[in-house]
Amino acid sequence: MTNPLRHGDPRLPSLPPACAVVIFGATGDLAGRKLIPALYNLHVRRLLPTGTVIVGLGRRDLGGDEGFAAEMRARCEEHSRTPVSDPDWSGFASSLRYLAGEFSDPALYTRLRERLEAEPTTGGNALWYLSVPPSAFPTIVENLAAHDLSDEADGRASRVIIEKPFGRDSASARELNGIVNHAFAERQVFRIDHYLGKESVQNILVMRFANGIFEPVWNRNFVDHVQITVAESIGVEGRGKFYEEAGALRDIVQNHMLQVLSFVAMEAPSSFDAEAVRSERAKLLKAVRELRPEDVVRGQYAAGFGDGKAVSAYRDEADVSPSSEVETFVAARLRIDNWRWADTPFYLRTGKRLPKRVTEVAIQFKRVPHLPFSYAASEQLEPNVLVMRIQPDEGIALRFGAKVPAPRVVIRNVQMDFEYDTSFQEAPAEAYETLLLDVMRGDATNFPREDAVDASWRIVEPVLESWQRDGGATHPYESGTWGPEAADQLLADDGRR
Ligand code: BG6
Repeated sequence: MTNPLRHGDPRLPSLPPACAVVIFGATGDLAGRKLIPALYNLHVRRLLPTGTVIVGLGRRDLGGDEGFAAEMRARCEEHSRTPVSDPDWSGFASSLRYLAGEFSDPALYTRLRERLEAEPTTGGNALWYLSVPPSAFPTIVENLAAHDLSDEADGRASRVIIEKPFGRDSASARELNGIVNHAFAERQVFRIDHYLGKESVQNILVMRFANGIFEPVWNRNFVDHVQITVAESIGVEGRGKFYEEAGALRDIVQNHMLQVLSFVAMEAPSSFDAEAVRSERAKLLKAVRELRPEDVVRGQYAAGFGDGKAVSAYRDEADVSPSSEVETFVAARLRIDNWRWADTPFYLRTGKRLPKRVTEVAIQFKRVPHLPFSYAASEQLEPNVLVMRIQPDEGIALRFGAKVPAPRVVIRNVQMDFEYDTSFQEAPAEAYETLLLDVMRGDATNFPREDAVDASWRIVEPVLESWQRDGGATHPYESGTWGPEAADQLLADDGRR
């Protein structure tokens, strides 16, 4: 028998070389809620390469490395998906470093460089995580270049990770790319859309392309329409200032939802090579027709209930204008102009303060061409639906009609279910764990390429422009409901629900 330990666990990737993970904005919300807990969990899973150091940079003086470690432990205790244990934490904390300073101050980069040179275990490899508002990107990127930190001389890796939003529209996204590409080659740039790191999103491609039975029906001949839903029960949670600038169309639709759409609708790549996969995703997005304002409904949450408690309206949130028209809900009908999907509508729906947190893709198939059963027997029969549950309860369900055990024919809808939890006995990792490891390995498969970002802006831009120009109705909806009625009407107009 072969020794499985010799070959390692096939579920685990080969470990990349050690590096310095440098986080700009390390005292910010994202770092404390997602990035540091993700790195900690990689450490717990023994996936963080030995010798890796994590350097936090922020404006606040936290009292050096120890102060930073103490603050990050508190954040991990709050947000880590596995409980923080003393032995694991002490190993992890020994890799934490902190530098305080202004990102516009060149002296900070001189100190950073010296600090990194004093870390022999990283082999000079570095990841620069820009967890800062986009307005801070140019100064950081220019300073990295000016201090010789962006080049990959002597075989060392230097990769920059940029958080969304990638601009506010295509012009600003191109400008941002221009700035970044001035210091970094495209292969060094990793734009993070954390939805691409979710196991259940990555599984869409495996389900479609590793199985023979789905692809033949995955097209306009068999699919009636597709619904993609990203529902959240939370409100803007103290991010009123950001939300007033962004709105749901920019925050969720332009990136997360269009990326998920590209997984659902793209053609099969010839290999799982990063460029082959990214090219197919970008090709699909380029085939999506630009949205027209009449295909989009926007809504904004009013007071109501959230998670069983009375909650206030969006307009009463901190840093939100009392007369704001910014949308916290979007429903859209979208078309893809290619042979596979011509005339097949894709309905997207996202909102905050909806009744529950659920992200799913529903592929609704056409009805049978002729039903040989009586109306009484088949009254309750619904068309087949394949639901890919992205979160929570990650899994896949197929609905079909079955005969109720009885001496006559009566048909009911039943469901076949696959659940990650029960099939694999473990909960999927957090998206940021997967994506950080991908960047360490230099694998760009799960990161949107520049042309895909550009294509997504092109899709939503006519609507953004029209809202800015003409206003356009923002429908209020009570918190804790499924959004404005006008959104249901969008489907009802097409005879769907
Ligand atoms: C972020 C948005 O990108 O995604 C947030 O800015 C949103 O507004 C979040 O709440 C949703 O992520 P997830 O992984 O919880 O679905």
